[in-house]
Amino acid sequence: HLSVQERIEEKRNAALIGGGQLRIAAQHKRGKLTARERVELLLDQDSFVEYDMFVEHRCSDFGMEADHNKYPGDSVVTGQGRINGRLVYVFSQDFTVFGGSLSGAHAQKICKIMDQAMMVGAPVIGLNDSGGARIQEGVESLAGYADIFLRNVMASGVVPQISLIMGPCAGGAVYSPALTDFTFMVKDTSYLFITGPDVVKSVTNEDVTQEELGGAKTHTAVSGVAHRAFENDIDALLNLRDFFNFLPLSNKDPSPVIECHDPRDRLVPGLDTVVPFETTKAYDMLDIVHGIVDEREFFEIMPNYAKNIVVGFARMNGRTVGIVGNQPKVASGCLDINSSVKGARFVRFCDAFNIPIITFVDVPGFLPGTAQEYGGIIRHGAKLLYAFAEATVPKITVITRKAYGGAYDVMSSKHLRGDVNYAWPSAEVAVMGAKGAVQIIFRGKENQAKAEAEYVEKFANPFPAAVRGFVDDIIQPSTTRKRICRDLEVLASKKQTNPWKKHANIPL
Ligand code: COA
Repeated sequence: HLSVQERIEEKRNAALIGGGQLRIAAQHKRGKLTARERVELLLDQDSFVEYDMFVEHRCSDFGMEADHNKYPGDSVVTGQGRINGRLVYVFSQDFTVFGGSLSGAHAQKICKIMDQAMMVGAPVIGLNDSGGARIQEGVESLAGYADIFLRNVMASGVVPQISLIMGPCAGGAVYSPALTDFTFMVKDTSYLFITGPDVVKSVTNEDVTQEELGGAKTHTAVSGVAHRAFENDIDALLNLRDFFNFLPLSNKDPSPVIECHDPRDRLVPGLDTVVPFETTKAYDMLDIVHGIVDEREFFEIMPNYAKNIVVGFARMNGRTVGIVGNQPKVASGCLDINSSVKGARFVRFCDAFNIPIITFVDVPGFLPGTAQEYGGIIRHGAKLLYAFAEATVPKITVITRKAYGGAYDVMSSKHLRGDVNYAWPSAEVAVMGAKGAVQIIFRGKENQAKAEAEYVEKFANPFPAAVRGFVDDIIQPSTTRKRICRDLEVLASKKQTNPWKKHANIPL
């Protein structure tokens, strides 16, 4: 007979190897790390504090009650630790134990850390690698999912929640990542879908591979379900550490500030010539973003989806900011359904977590056409408008060139409580471009060229907005960083609230 002490040791050791060496080797052979290796890489060295190593599943059907079917800790590793010294709660699903499938006990472990994260105010990171519901457990497993979903919803806007998909994630399992703020994927080894290729074949007769249906490329470029994809487990976990540094721990904390070595009053001479003289010529909004932010460091969100808008995190004088910018390089920077939704979700995250928003505007309007109208651009465009309007964080806007029509209003304009709105000398704030405008108001009249020149003279410049106070100043582009850094300092104590409501009704 073993003593209690010996039994504790035995169980701890069993928990540490999960499904055993053979399955660990199989995991490695797929190019994947184990649940524990992932936690070690994600967190600061020796900072992981594990919970529930002794928890076991309680299933007694299908022979599951047998000792050899019990794994201390079951199929998930949970606990808390630090990323660059800052607290975070983590769960990491262990594919070596029943394919990482979700038992009632597995769900309970996740719920425990989520509850504690909410109470102390710290983010939750989920490392997903699971064959879905524990088939032997039936409804107990489904209940477990719902318990997690409910917590995802309650935590939404309270603590940041991040999902990293590092293996299969199918069926009901997809809805926890979908409810979190950010979903990242690992290329080639992870996939997300409601039903797999076999079910798709039998229902819709489509032939599709797992990768095509729900791989990283599909979700970062086509569906917009995932926000970034990384090369492998190590790359993903290291990027996640960098990403984490941008986030406040909870909605009660201000946007984090780190030490900054990039001078706050640095001039950026290149910006004086970045906007081409011809108004129809494209340029790369990322050049402007990189030039202005600290150390040219920009963590882009959804870089391969709806590329006509650019969103992501950066720092200004050490403080985290959210950047939104129209991208003239893609579809002339038009707003469409996908870019509106992408922008809106990002703006709402920033607003929920006290992250100031800096918006760069060069937008010729909303994309016309039946595809957009039938797809509901009115409803979706309204989301971006709604998001900017409701946001109470510091909002700074720079019109670099075009700000046409309703899109001018939408893009964090003065009218939606923009705190500081600048125009560059190249700014044109108008209802539409000169050609289109003249075609409508001087239809059939002679001397269209003269009318067009007059329109350009009158409207294709920053003055109509500036004389009305709709922009606060017309600034030299090279001074933009300096101005924004100063503004952010002033706005750090901004306090603004919206009217009481149960919750708002954003047009979904
Ligand atoms: N419930 C219980 N056990 C599961 C499981 C589940 N949902 N999914 C996988 N497992 C077990 C397997 O029985 C296997 O056990 P073993 O190591 O003792 O042989 C182990 O996990 C690994 O699974 P395996 O199928 O060998 O791995 P794979 O990489 O070839 O395939 C999946 C992975 C996820 C595609 C496949 O396991 C699968 O289709 N699982 C079921 C998915 C599902 O429909 N879930 C319910 C929907 S919510």
